[in-house]
Order: sequence, then structure tokens, then C-alpha cells
Amino acid sequence: MDYNELDQALKHYEGDPLALIPALQKAQDICGYLPPEVITRIAAKLNISPANVQGVATFYAQFRLKPAGKHLVMLCQGTACHVNNSAAIEEAIISHLSAPGAPYREGDTTPDGLFTLKNVACLGCCSLSPAMMINGETYGSLTPDKAVAVLKEIASASN
Ligand code: FES
Repeated sequence: MDYNELDQALKHYEGDPLALIPALQKAQDICGYLPPEVITRIAAKLNISPANVQGVATFYAQFRLKPAGKHLVMLCQGTACHVNNSAAIEEAIISHLSAPGAPYREGDTTPDGLFTLKNVACLGCCSLSPAMMINGETYGSLTPDKAVAVLKEIASASN
């Protein structure tokens, strides 16, 4: 990974421990996720211990410590989607992404690197609930079958 862009961006937060969240967000935007090397660089630049940076990065669901798959599936678990059974959608996606002996868990990336499922708060399209967003596209009024069909379509287009 080339850290030039990250190092340039982190200059903006130099010596400011209170800027940890924006620094983590910026680093994730640039690097896609927050590997140990990025955590160390942020810690050094902001004058915080790496353990503290790691603790904050681990605490907030918005931060990824592992690389996301090619397609980040953001499944809404906001109130409207929850009421309209987003849990069943999640169950169907997890079952679809699991392999025999290799159960998939939310937040993991599939072994082929194609998908990462992430539960998120309201996507802002509650009238379409339950909804998910993949690669900037919103898929609404989901059923378990429809959600799985979308993933299959994306996977076959990726091959
Ligand atoms: S609660 Fe899911 S889009 Fe608003």
C-alpha cells in the first residue's frame, strides 16, 4: 500500500488527539480499511497510543479493520426496515454467503473477495424498506429471495 496520500492527509490532524474520529474516517476513505500500519501512523501523527486508536476503531461499527469485498452490501437495520423484517433479509444473505463448514458472519468478506455484508443505520429511503445499498445503488422492498437474487446477479456480472 502506498501511504503517501495518507501521510499528506494526516498532516491536517497533526498533534490533535481530538481529531481521532475524522482522522480514522479519512484514513478509511483513502485506504479502504484500517490495517495495523495505518493505526500506527495515525497514532504517531496525533500523539495517541496505538492501543487507544485501535480501541476507538474497534468500538465504532463504521470502521473496518479488514478489507471490504469488491461489493459492500449495506443492509439497513433502521427502524422501518427492522419493522419490515430486515432480519429475514440478513438471514437469507448470510445463508447465501455461507459455505459448508464455513459459516459467513456479518462484517466478513467472502473468500472470493466479492462481498462484505455490513448492517447499517437508516439509509434514508424508509418508504422502500426493507432496503440495502450496494455500490451506491439502492435496492428496496426486499424479500429474502429478492436480496439473494440481487447478489447472484452482481456475482455473475463480476465473473
Ligand atoms: S430505516 Fe431503512 S431506509 Fe430508513
